[in-house]
Amino acid sequence: MIPKIIIDQIFETARIEEVIGEFVNLKKAGQNLRGLSPFVDEKTPSFFVSPVKQIFKCFSSGKGGSVVSFLMEHEHYSYPEALKFLAKRYQIEIPEEEQTDEQKQAANERESLYIVNSYGQDFFEEKLWNSDEGKSIGVSYFRGRGFTDDIIKKFKLGYNPSGWNILVKDANEKGYKTEFLIQAGLVKQKEARVYDTYRERVMFPIHNLSGRVIGFGGRTLKTDKKIPKYINSPESLIYHKSDSLYGIYYAKSAMIKHDMCYLVEGYTDVISLHQAGVENVVASSGTSLTEGQIRLIKRYTSNITVLYDGDAAGIKASFRGIDMILEQGLNIKVVLFPDGEDPDSYAQKLDSEDFKDYLAEYATDFIVFKTDVLNKDAKNDPLEKAKLLREVVNSIALIPDHLTRAVYIKECGRLLDIEEKVLILELNKIRRKRINDERSKNAVQNQQPDLEPLPEIELIGKQSVHVNEQDIDFQELDVIRLLLNYGNLHIKKKNDDVIKEEEPETIENLFAVRLIKEFLADQIPFENPLYQQVIETVMKQVQKDGALRTEAFLNDNSVEVVNLYVDVVNPRYALHKWDTVKIFVKGEEQKLSDAINSATTMLRLKRINKLIIKNNNKTKIAQEEGRDYIPLQKELMVINNAKRKIADLIGAVILK
Ligand code: UTP
Ligand code: MN
Repeated sequence: MIPKIIIDQIFETARIEEVIGEFVNLKKAGQNLRGLSPFVDEKTPSFFVSPVKQIFKCFSSGKGGSVVSFLMEHEHYSYPEALKFLAKRYQIEIPEEEQTDEQKQAANERESLYIVNSYGQDFFEEKLWNSDEGKSIGVSYFRGRGFTDDIIKKFKLGYNPSGWNILVKDANEKGYKTEFLIQAGLVKQKEARVYDTYRERVMFPIHNLSGRVIGFGGRTLKTDKKIPKYINSPESLIYHKSDSLYGIYYAKSAMIKHDMCYLVEGYTDVISLHQAGVENVVASSGTSLTEGQIRLIKRYTSNITVLYDGDAAGIKASFRGIDMILEQGLNIKVVLFPDGEDPDSYAQKLDSEDFKDYLAEYATDFIVFKTDVLNKDAKNDPLEKAKLLREVVNSIALIPDHLTRAVYIKECGRLLDIEEKVLILELNKIRRKRINDERSKNAVQNQQPDLEPLPEIELIGKQSVHVNEQDIDFQELDVIRLLLNYGNLHIKKKNDDVIKEEEPETIENLFAVRLIKEFLADQIPFENPLYQQVIETVMKQVQKDGALRTEAFLNDNSVEVVNLYVDVVNPRYALHKWDTVKIFVKGEEQKLSDAINSATTMLRLKRINKLIIKNNNKTKIAQEEGRDYIPLQKELMVINNAKRKIADLIGAVILK
């Protein structure tokens, strides 16, 4: 916890224009400063910083806020991390928390490891550039690989001389303790002898997100097969291999900017791509990708393009790792290089523009790629083909987003010349099994829709709020979920019970009709066209048949809708039970009127919030540009009134 008084001091001292000026090239534009957005790729500057108000606003991405929110957005710092960054920048001391002795010792040990690693990096660089051995062996090796001196310096590459203990001796003379040199893996000890780990190797320092050295890879220049090509730092207090990616420090801002991350195998691939002008690239350093590494990428982008050399065995071995990426909801493409080429060699071979064109042109969707590779293997063997189909559908089933799944099913059906229905059947089988497995693992049965807490909309002050598109989509989906689960039940007008047998079942008290009527009154179509399509087909069917029939509904609809259906329909009622009207299960269906009220009100509130945010942003632009914004303010009052009414209703719903 940073004391409040210090936080205030940080906010008072920090100058937004100075801090952002270190990340973005800003030029004066009237009262404000203007520059190219660091969040999107743009040619005309739309990024503003107001020194007077101490806020920034990016009109391309919609992001905006204080200096702290900038650091959180751009550097992906947490709130305390951003404050600490500023405190350091402005030399404001944050009083140390009371730490236990163990905590202090651990912190000291970590810090000591950072320090010896940083020393190591300097030592290796110094030896590379300024010793005869470094120049004649190290520098000429790097240059021979096509690295420019600038790029060698950018990545702080180095050289560890031959001789047993050049580094140890130098380090000890300068006061670095052997204990930490050993922990960091820079030196090794055998009985009484202490010697350098990376003798006669060129050195690749590995940096964490903030650019501190956490480890090294040392490559031998010998071709002797018995000598390991690379020696990598051991795991340590500061180096967790499964949560680190080589190049992340140099890639992060380009990853945000291009909203994409290239994934390669090793150090030299990363460096050659940088040299070719592709900076959004990281390497898993020879091992297969871990969940921690995927999470790291996900902080910056959800699009990954994996770059492969042409080796078929390697490709198949990587399929499992890629399934893991799919499961985390990321989009994956792959680029295959010609036989005998890897990203490094190919980036060196082509000129920068041609290389970038190649990446763009040959990026293939992973699922399509996998289907292709397996299809070539299967030839026309029906058994192999069935296996292939399951393999591919297994991957598709991992994708969390149902729309994406639907698109892939269609595409794979086309590629394999198999009817979509067959694929969907397989997909649903897999998904239902997975859902059931999950269920029995977690024993979660409750299907009540969670009422979302009221979103905070702050209209005054420095913070501007982003429109969260997902928010509305989520709420719309909840409506669809209710519709498809309970559409065919009859409910009473006034109370919540499912209708008793003796009471008439009319179209008017059909749940689907009641729900849809609410939205027809608003005359606002659903933003998600798929949901809108569901509503329209349900309406048509009810008008035609006076009820909903599963078969008819599914036959009338596209693959996308069928998939959506499987996603949202409560498996307890499974497909065939949907037509049975009289089910009496304790839970949501006992409170159907409530469910209608809360779902519709929440969606309306979300829509209103979106209007408010839009208005807010428009007002800001008008202010910046010195235009009259009174009409916008008037509009805002009207919207706010509507919001209050709805909020009252929500209160009522929640209180019930
Ligand atoms: P490469 O064998 O492609 O390395 O391994 P390289 O330096 O690019 O070799 P050449 O010059 O093309 O032959 C790719 C990555 O695998 C890891 C390293 O991260 C390397 O960058 N690796 C490889 C190791 O960690 N240890 C090894 O022994 C070999
Ligand atoms: Mn290589």
